Amino acid sequence: MAEKGVDIAPAEGKLGVLLVGLGAVSTTLVAGVESIKRGISEPIGSLTQMGTIRLGKRTDNRVPKIKDFVPLADINDIVFGAWDIFTDTAFEAAMNAGVLDKDLLNQVSEQLSSLKPMPAVFEQNYVKRLHGENVKTGKNKMELAEQLIEDIAKFKSDNGCSRLVIVWAASTEIFLEASDVHQTIEAFEKGLYDSDPKISPSMIYAYAAIKSAVPFANGAPNLTADIPALLKLAEDSRVPICGKDFKTGQTLMKTILAPGFKARMLGLEGWYSTNILGNRDGEVLDDPENFKTKEESKLSVLEHILQPDVYPDLYKDFSHVVRINYYPPRGDNKEGWDNIDIFGWLGYKMQIKIDFLCRDSILAAPLALDLALFMDLAQRAGMRGIQEWLSFYFKAPQHAEGLYPEHDLFIQLMKLKNTLRHLKGEEMITHLGLEYYD
Ligand SMILES: NC(=O)c1ccc[n+]([C@@H]2O[C@H](COP(=O)([O-])OP(=O)(O)OC[C@H]3O[C@@H](n4cnc5c(N)ncnc54)[C@H](O)[C@@H]3O)[C@@H](O)[C@H]2O)c1
Repeated sequence: MAEKGVDIAPAEGKLGVLLVGLGAVSTTLVAGVESIKRGISEPIGSLTQMGTIRLGKRTDNRVPKIKDFVPLADINDIVFGAWDIFTDTAFEAAMNAGVLDKDLLNQVSEQLSSLKPMPAVFEQNYVKRLHGENVKTGKNKMELAEQLIEDIAKFKSDNGCSRLVIVWAASTEIFLEASDVHQTIEAFEKGLYDSDPKISPSMIYAYAAIKSAVPFANGAPNLTADIPALLKLAEDSRVPICGKDFKTGQTLMKTILAPGFKARMLGLEGWYSTNILGNRDGEVLDDPENFKTKEESKLSVLEHILQPDVYPDLYKDFSHVVRINYYPPRGDNKEGWDNIDIFGWLGYKMQIKIDFLCRDSILAAPLALDLALFMDLAQRAGMRGIQEWLSFYFKAPQHAEGLYPEHDLFIQLMKLKNTLRHLKGEEMITHLGLEYYD
């Protein structure tokens, strides 16, 4: 029986996508969208642009594109804005990042050159390896938040946007744990006035976004909108939030392979992962305090997928090691190696080796686009707080308290598509299929 569906406001007018950080991922996103708009390139890797969704029975032959099924903003209606600690335009930053060919960048140079980053909220204490000059000043962190709120309002009116979303694609901050100042909105706001060191720049952006009723997605692993004070503020203000840490490269592979091992009841003795990476992200992550944030995010995946408590004979005490080494010659073209020690029937051992010559920002840019479009959809559909149905995009998906996160890519995709079916009042797909044999 079909459900009723949810009222979704139409995607009318322009959608402003505000990027925190105008580095490799952001410029690859902006240049990509501009070249897709002009018909120069295809949106490969983007579920919102290329994905389809099955509706009804397998015999119904109803398989629309996702973007024709739910009312997403058209990419021609997207306007980009950004904050960064450097003054480089998107064109200069894209040239420096070295991800895309100069030929392609030259074809969209006008759009990229006109994107100049607004001064950032930044403190070097949170990203040890960076030092930038395009940075806001204020007498306390609340004043910095107010300046961001002004930037957001000004961007919206200057560009005639009807809606905005904010995506954090800035450098990974040092590892922080939730403490008293993060527990309630009163404590958090007092902390902003007191410039509490436990309030990081990313939390100030998230606060400004939520206060401005703008959805906020966190593409990096830092503690940001996943603190009780901001979760409550987002709920109360009816603002969607999601995170954390774009699921690309090596972790994407892990969440594809590990569910397969578990499905076939193959055991795991150890999984050793190492990366060589030469872009600015790699340089930032070379600092132990910044790497720790990334490490936590990367390590959690296997435990949750393999459930050692449920399958102790297969997964108890497996060894999981993750390393990132900064190696400048590789630039954005990361190399991720995995050595996987598995065991099968009667405990016989086997090994799998993966050498993924990937391109980090090429994998991340379509995720940032999809998140911007789905977060805008969520807001128009009245969804608020954590958007767990977008776990598909993250290494460390935000989830309700008391739940474990879902890391299996295939369950995540099913959840995402069933959420879209639910929004539109279509039947959930259970894959039971007994009716075909009645
Ligand atoms: N590329 C991927 O596959 C991938 C996957 C998961 C997560 N990430 C995360 O996404 C983020 C961006 O990655 P990238 O490769 O574009 O890195 P990058 O170093 O090229 O870009 C980050 C940009 O953020 C800016 N920045 C730092 N702190 C800022 C602040 N407080 N406000 C505004 N700007 C600030 C930096 O100046 C830089 O230009 C990183 O945190 C990275 O860990 C990337």
